Amino acid sequence: MRIEVKDLDHIYNAGLAYETYALKHVSLTLDRGELVCLIGHTGSGKTTLVQHLNGLLKPDKGQVLADGVDINEKSPQARALRRKIGLVFQYPEYQLFEETVFKDVCFGPKNMGLSEEECAKKANDSLKLVGMDPDEVGDKSPFALSGGQKRRVAIAGILAMDPEVLILDEPAAGLDPAGKKAILSCIKGIKEERNICILLISHNMEDVAEIADRVLVMDKGSLVLDGPPGEVFARRQALRDMGLAAPPAARFMEMVAAGGGPVSADVLTLDDAAREIIRVYGKR
Ligand SMILES: Nc1ncnc2c1ncn2[C@@H]1O[C@H](COP(=O)(O)OP(=O)(O)OP(=O)(O)O)[C@@H](O)[C@H]1O
Ligand SMILES: [Mg+2]
Repeated sequence: MRIEVKDLDHIYNAGLAYETYALKHVSLTLDRGELVCLIGHTGSGKTTLVQHLNGLLKPDKGQVLADGVDINEKSPQARALRRKIGLVFQYPEYQLFEETVFKDVCFGPKNMGLSEEECAKKANDSLKLVGMDPDEVGDKSPFALSGGQKRRVAIAGILAMDPEVLILDEPAAGLDPAGKKAILSCIKGIKEERNICILLISHNMEDVAEIADRVLVMDKGSLVLDGPPGEVFARRQALRDMGLAAPPAARFMEMVAAGGGPVSADVLTLDDAAREIIRVYGKR
């Protein structure tokens, strides 16, 4: 599936004294197989934008097209397309409600009218894909799991509906380091296995540098940068002006270079930084 956002505006509380222009002329395209990270200062419009991508919010101006069809049309075709765009909210664990993990993950496919057998298959496959053993956790109450596990169950619930686009609003927020790592590796696994488009909102530049094929940067409701991580993170001053930082490995190498170390600061990840340090100093 290809998503095209065309000149999208969103105004909260339009016409009131406290109206907020949350999105201004946003245009972008998302394609199958891409892992795209959406970053931006708090309040820049990230959540508002992703809520438009599956029709949860309606544009004040502009359009969201899925495979060329306006998803806000009142047609069965548009409804079917909206269902193919799965949105995992921030803190999705608060939306788990069934008495067992298995029932929770089956909820979506059941609503889509699939047979019990098909639902079970989808639930099992999705739980495995998020790194959970259905035999071990299936009968447990979702409330008996850790925060990170609950979140993976919530992601499995969306995956069970076979989305062609998966959107995750800050999936690692508030988790401990082990929980964050598990979520990240689960996202990489989903990309490898399903080859769908994944759009991820994150405040963690280290994670973004590690997993993104492409980075989108929002600032005060506008999409201001859109490109491969190397290009976007090379715009250090522009990012700083928006209150954003480069990934920690890049900042570290910048400090070494500024102190006279003959290293290139053109790195994104810890692996890149280690390689560069070994290249320069390793053989002395
Ligand atoms: N339901 C709402 N009613 C009124 N204003 C809102 C509402 N939701 C968001 N806003 C405003 O719209 C702007 C964009 O908010 P949004 O939540 O999309 O930002 P964000 O980039 O997701 O921020 P964060 O990083 O804090 O999650 C902000 O100024 C915010 O205060
Ligand atoms: Mg948000």
